[in-house]
Amino acid sequence: MQLEIKATAQLNDDEAGALKALSAAVYPPKPDAAKNASPIKWARPQWSILLRDVDSQLVSYVGALTRLGLCDNQEILIGGIGGVKTHPAQRGKGYAKAGIQRATDFLRRELGVDFSLLVCRADLLTYYQRLGWSAFAGDTLVQQNGLKSIFTWNEVMVIPAGKALPSCRVLDLCGPPW
Ligand SMILES: CC(C)(COP(=O)(O)OP(=O)(O)OC[C@H]1O[C@@H](n2cnc3c(N)ncnc32)[C@H](O)[C@@H]1OP(=O)(O)O)[C@@H](O)C(=O)NCCC(=O)NCCS
Repeated sequence: MQLEIKATAQLNDDEAGALKALSAAVYPPKPDAAKNASPIKWARPQWSILLRDVDSQLVSYVGALTRLGLCDNQEILIGGIGGVKTHPAQRGKGYAKAGIQRATDFLRRELGVDFSLLVCRADLLTYYQRLGWSAFAGDTLVQQNGLKSIFTWNEVMVIPAGKALPSCRVLDLCGPPW
């Protein structure tokens, strides 16, 4: 397994093309694409964790970003993990686990976040719990189309970065989710 972290804006054409092909393999286009599009406006990851197999093919991806948010109105630096995906033919080999762990280490050690956060479908709660993440018990506020609202689209999970998790009742992501 080869693992590389790059700024998303610095991905070259080959890398961007491989990422597009991976996304299409994970989420094959549906006949009525417009009807099936997510209603959520997602933030673009600033960092891309690229995982390749022994033949240097991109087989898995993890996106990462930082966001200055508010934890009960106190400023806090949040690490974000998103866009996690592994090619259907390469699952169960630990690619996503390695990418998520590298991303959270990078956010903690190199970008100095207070904790990291991701959102996921309910059926992935146990997957992330096994990697040390826990469900966030408070309300998460996000910005969509200029309006702030409580995020209920899917589950919100957090992991501490060294210190204990901050205990906030209301966590404002001060922008779109990721
Ligand atoms: C979820 C996903 C990223 C996992 O990728 P992966 O590279 O296969 O993950 P890993 O190899 O690190 O972990 C696989 C393990 O997770 C388990 N797992 C996979 N999906 C799971 C789920 N929904 N619930 C619980 N465990 C799950 C597997 O059984 C396997 O367990 P094992 O290690 O005991 O064999 C991959 O299935 C995927 O791309 N899914 C579609 C896109 C998606 O849903 N992304 C997540 C967005 S939050």
